[in-house]
Amino acid sequence: MQFKVSTESIITLASDCIILTHTEDKDMLLGLAQQVDEQMDHRISQLIAEKEIKGTYGEVTLLHTWGKIPAKRVLVLGLGKEEKLTIDRARNAYAIAARKAQSIGVRELAVVVSQKYKAIWNPVDLGQAVVEAIQLGTYTFNYKTKEKPQQKIERILVTVDGISVKAVEAGVERGIIFAESQNLARDLGNTPANKMTPSLLADKAKEVAKKHRLEINILDKKQIQELNMGAFLAVSKGSDEEPKLIVMKYFGAPEYKDVIGFVGKGITFDSGGIQIKPDKDMDEMKGDMAGAAAVLGAMNAIGSLEPHANIIAVIPSCENMVSGHAIHPGDIVETFSGKTVEIKHTDAEGRLILADAISYAKHLGVTKIVDVATLTGSVISALGHHMTGIFSNDPDWAKEVKTAANLSGEKVWELPIDDDYEELVESEIADLKNDAGFGAGAIQGAMFLKAFAGDTPWAHLDIAGTSWLSETKGVNIKGATGAMTRSLIALAIRFGGN
Ligand code: BES
Ligand code: MN
Ligand code: ZN
Repeated sequence: MQFKVSTESIITLASDCIILTHTEDKDMLLGLAQQVDEQMDHRISQLIAEKEIKGTYGEVTLLHTWGKIPAKRVLVLGLGKEEKLTIDRARNAYAIAARKAQSIGVRELAVVVSQKYKAIWNPVDLGQAVVEAIQLGTYTFNYKTKEKPQQKIERILVTVDGISVKAVEAGVERGIIFAESQNLARDLGNTPANKMTPSLLADKAKEVAKKHRLEINILDKKQIQELNMGAFLAVSKGSDEEPKLIVMKYFGAPEYKDVIGFVGKGITFDSGGIQIKPDKDMDEMKGDMAGAAAVLGAMNAIGSLEPHANIIAVIPSCENMVSGHAIHPGDIVETFSGKTVEIKHTDAEGRLILADAISYAKHLGVTKIVDVATLTGSVISALGHHMTGIFSNDPDWAKEVKTAANLSGEKVWELPIDDDYEELVESEIADLKNDAGFGAGAIQGAMFLKAFAGDTPWAHLDIAGTSWLSETKGVNIKGATGAMTRSLIALAIRFGGN
C-alpha cells in the first residue's frame, strides 16, 4: 500500500473513492463535504434530510458520482455523536470505511484530513490514525490457492485541507510503521503452529534484526541448559521442537541509565500438556505467542523509528505439548533465579517460561520491565475481549505503560497486585507453585511473575482476551489482533527512559 500526502482539492481529484465524514444529529455537511455536495447537486444533503444518512457511528453510505466530480465514488462515513468523538473512535470508524471500499474493489482511496474536528485531535495524530485505520482495517490473512487474488487497496491519497502538511506527513509516516509492525505481529499470531515453530519464530526475529541492524542473539537448547533455566526447559520438554531464547537489543540512548525490557510469551502452541485442554477451539492456541509477536512487532518499529531509548527484548519460545517427555503435575523445577517451583498445573506454562525470561532480562541489565503474555483464561472472564489486564509492582511505571496504551488507542484496565494474594503462589514443598486452583486466576499469574520481577519496576500485560478475536471489529480483524504492539512502540518513543 502506497501513501501520498497532497493538498490537491478532492473536488478535482480523480480517485476510485473519497471518504467523507458526517456526525450524528448534524443536518449540515461541513467544509469540503459541503463543496462535494454542491458539485453533486445536493444529493448528499438530500439523503441527510431524508434521514437515509444519519451519521450514526460506523454507518457507511456509498454514492456514485456519475461524472459530477472526477472521483468515481463518495463514501459517507458516520462518526456518531460529535461529543463522543475521540481519535480512537475515528480510527475504528475509518477502518470500517476502508474495508467497505476494499470489498467493492477500490484501488485508489482518498481521505481528507482537515481542521473540521481540530478541537479533538492534532494533525500528526490524525494523519497517523487515518493511516493505521486503513492499513489495519484492510488486513487479510489466508492460505487459499483457488480464490481470485484478493483485490487490495493499492494507493491512499491523504488530502490535507487547512492544516499543516508537514505535520500530517509526519503522522502518516509514523502510522505506516505502527500499522506495518502490528500487521507483522498479526501475521505471526495467525500463522499455524506447524509453520511457526520456535525455530521459525527465531528466524523471523533474525529477519527483523537484520533489516534494522539490531543486535540479536538466539540461544539454543544447550545454551538454555547451561544457564539453568529449569522452568523454561521443563515446559519445552514435551515437544520435539527445540526451545529458543530470542534476545534483541537496541541502544538509542547510551547516556540513559534506564534500559527497558520487553518480555513476550512465545508459546507457539499450547496443548495444555498432560493436563490437556478441552478440544473446542484448541486451534486458537497457535496464537499463544501473541506476546512474543507484539514484542517483535514493536522491535521492528523501534528499528525504523530509532527512538531515544534503550530496549532489550527477551522472548522465550517453545511448545507446550503432550508426550512421554512431558512434565508431570507435581514436578519440581529449579528456575534461573534459583527459586524452586512446584508445577501444580501443566497448562500454567506461560508463567514458567516468563519467570526465567524476566530473571534473564534483569541479568542483562534492564531497569524497567513490561511483559506481554496470553497468560490466563481468567482475564477474559474479568475483562472480556475489549481490554488488556495490566498488573504492576510500581505505580509510576504502571502509569507510563497505561499512558502509552491510551495514546495508542489500546484499552487497558489495572487489576490488583496485593500481599493478600501472596498465599496463592505459596507452595508447601517449593518456593512457589504455578497454580492455586479456582479463583483470581489472572491475579495468580501476575503474583507468580511478580516474584521474579522482584524490586525492578515491572508491568504485566495479560492479552489472553485482546490478542484474538472471533469477530472483525473496527481496526481489528477476526483472528490475531497484534494487541499491544502499538502501545509498546509508543512506550519506547514517549517514555524512553532517564
Ligand atoms: N495460553 C493459556 C491462556 C489463554 C486462554 C490464552 C485462552 C488465550 C485464550 C494459558 O497458558 C493457560 O492455559 N492458562 C490457564 C492457567 C490455569 C491452568 C492455571 C488458564 O487460564 O486457564
Ligand atoms: Mn496453558
Ligand atoms: Zn499458554
